[in-house]
Amino acid sequence: MLVVLLGGSPAVRSRSNLLLDRSRRWLERSGIEVVEYRITDFAADDLLFARFDSPRIRDLLTQVARADGLLVATPVYKASFSGALKTLLDVLPERALEHKVVLPLATGGSPAHLLAVDYALKPVLGALKAQEVLHGVFADDSQIAYGEAGAPAQFSAGLSERLEDALAQFHGALLRRPQLLDKNLLATARWSV
Ligand SMILES: Cc1cc2nc3c(=O)[nH]c(=O)nc-3n(C[C@H](O)[C@H](O)[C@H](O)COP(=O)(O)O)c2cc1C
Repeated sequence: MLVVLLGGSPAVRSRSNLLLDRSRRWLERSGIEVVEYRITDFAADDLLFARFDSPRIRDLLTQVARADGLLVATPVYKASFSGALKTLLDVLPERALEHKVVLPLATGGSPAHLLAVDYALKPVLGALKAQEVLHGVFADDSQIAYGEAGAPAQFSAGLSERLEDALAQFHGALLRRPQLLDKNLLATARWSV
């Protein structure tokens, strides 16, 4: 089982990436293979000019095609998800999320924009034909404290619980996901009635 993580923050020190870091550890402990891409891993030109043939973007498309599910993390920018994340979603092919489960994660300066994931990000994930988009986790900045001098970041108890619950639901949705039939099965099967 493969899960692709997409980090949509252009910031080097990023709370939404901390949500991904913690999620990654949870998924790996559950025996799930994880591949992670952050916006900052890509050349800005490749994203702004939608260079579908750049090696990094081709690698992303290959891993997304292989994936069973995705975690998509973003900061709230101007009451929406980040424009940088949109440039990444824009290079995905039209049905890129077909048959995949998606868990959105977001951080924002205030809970006033808690619904940005619902009204802004989810329609885009739907347009990419995601099979199931889960409820998602929103954290406001006061719930995530950066660890100083190498110490780990601290999440509020409520956020840790909500994230673990969302990851457990995500894992459950991955396990329930119908397996695609092997294209060659019908050609090779022998039927009797
Ligand atoms: C350009 C910019 C726009 C922002 N707009 C909003 C906003 O509209 N609503 C909000 O709640 N927070 C807003 N914030 C705060 C960020 O969403 C918040 O600090 C978030 O945790 C940053 O995530 P990151 O650390 O992963 O980049 C904005 C921050 C920046 C830099």
